[in-house]
Amino acid sequence: MSNKLFTKNEIIDILKDDSKNEWLFSLADKIRQENVGDAVHLRGLVEFSNICKCSCKYCGLRTENKKIERYRILKDEILQIVSDAVNLGYKTIVLQSGEDGYYSCEKIVEIIKAIKDFDVALTLSVGERCYEDYKAFKDAGADRYLIRIETTDRDLYAKMHPYADFDNRIRCLKDLKTLGYEVGTGCLVGLPNQTIESLADDILFFSEIQADMVGIGPFIPHPETPLKNEKTGSFILALKVMALTRIMLPDINIPATTAMETLNPDGRIIALKSGANVVMPNITKTQYRAKYEIYPNKICLNDSPDKCRGCIGAKIKSIGRYVASNYGFSHNNG
Ligand code: 5AD
Ligand code: FES
Repeated sequence: MSNKLFTKNEIIDILKDDSKNEWLFSLADKIRQENVGDAVHLRGLVEFSNICKCSCKYCGLRTENKKIERYRILKDEILQIVSDAVNLGYKTIVLQSGEDGYYSCEKIVEIIKAIKDFDVALTLSVGERCYEDYKAFKDAGADRYLIRIETTDRDLYAKMHPYADFDNRIRCLKDLKTLGYEVGTGCLVGLPNQTIESLADDILFFSEIQADMVGIGPFIPHPETPLKNEKTGSFILALKVMALTRIMLPDINIPATTAMETLNPDGRIIALKSGANVVMPNITKTQYRAKYEIYPNKICLNDSPDKCRGCIGAKIKSIGRYVASNYGFSHNNG
C-alpha cells in the first residue's frame, strides 16, 4: 500500500508545472493498481428529470434556461430502465436529476424501494435535501449519494450559485456521512476565476471529509448560460486534479467522467490510466438524452443503453482491464 501524501504547496507546484505530468499520471495509475486493482466498476446512470429549481451559472439545466424541453421520467418507466440495465449486467444504478420538487421524499422513497427489489446497489444524485429526507432515503435502501462541492472557494461558490449557500452544501455532505452513506463529491476544473490554490484546497477537502468517491470534470461553457463566453476548462488540468486525488486518497472510487470524454475522444481511457477505476455509462433511453444537456456536446446522445454497455466494455478490455462483477463498494473492491 503506497500512500504518498503531498502538502498543499507541493500540490500547487505539481498543478502549475506541466513538465512532470507523465510522472504524475503513472504514479496515480500505480497507486490505483495497488489499492483498488484492475477492476473497473460500471455505474448505470439514469437521468430521470431535467427540471431544476437552481440557477448554477455553469449548468444548462438552470431554471432560467427556457430553451430546453423539460421532462420527467416517472416510477414505472424508471423501473423499466433499471430492469433493462440489470439485464445488461449493471450492479449499481445511479438516479440523477435536477433539483425537481415534484419528487417528494415519499415519491423518491417509493422508487428506491422498488429499485432495491433488483439485486443492485443504489446511488442517488438529487441535490440538496434536509436531514430527514436523506434519512428516509437511507432507510429505504439507498447505499450512496453524490453531491459535488463544485468548488471549495467560498467567494467563487457564491458567484457560481446565486441563491445557494455553501454552508448548506457542507451540511448535506456531513449529514450523508453521518447517516452511513458512501458519499461521492467532486469539483469542476476551469471555472472562471478559479485559482490553482483553490483546486489544491478542493483536493485537501476530499480527504478531510473522507469522501468515498470523487468525480472531477472540466468546465464546459453552455451557450444558454451566463458563462457562455468563458473559456473551456483544461482537460489536462482536470486530469491532474484527478490523479492527485488518487494519490491523496488511494482507496476511494474515482470515475473517468463523461465531461473528460467530451473534451477528448479518448478521455475516459486516459482517465482510467491516470487513477480512475469507475465509469458511469448512460442508461437513460435515447429519446431523453439530448434534453439532459448540462453542457454541450455530451457524448452518447444518439446511443442506446446496450450500445454504451458494449462500447465501454470493449474500451476497458482494450487496455487490459476488466469490468467488475461485484457491487464495488468503496474500500471493498475485492
Ligand atoms: N460543464 C461541466 N460540468 C458541469 N456540471 C454542470 N454544469 C457543467 C458544465 N457546464 C457538472 C456539475 C454537477 C454535475 C452533475 O455536472 O459538477 O455536479
Ligand atoms: Fe456510449 Fe461509447 S459509451 S457509445
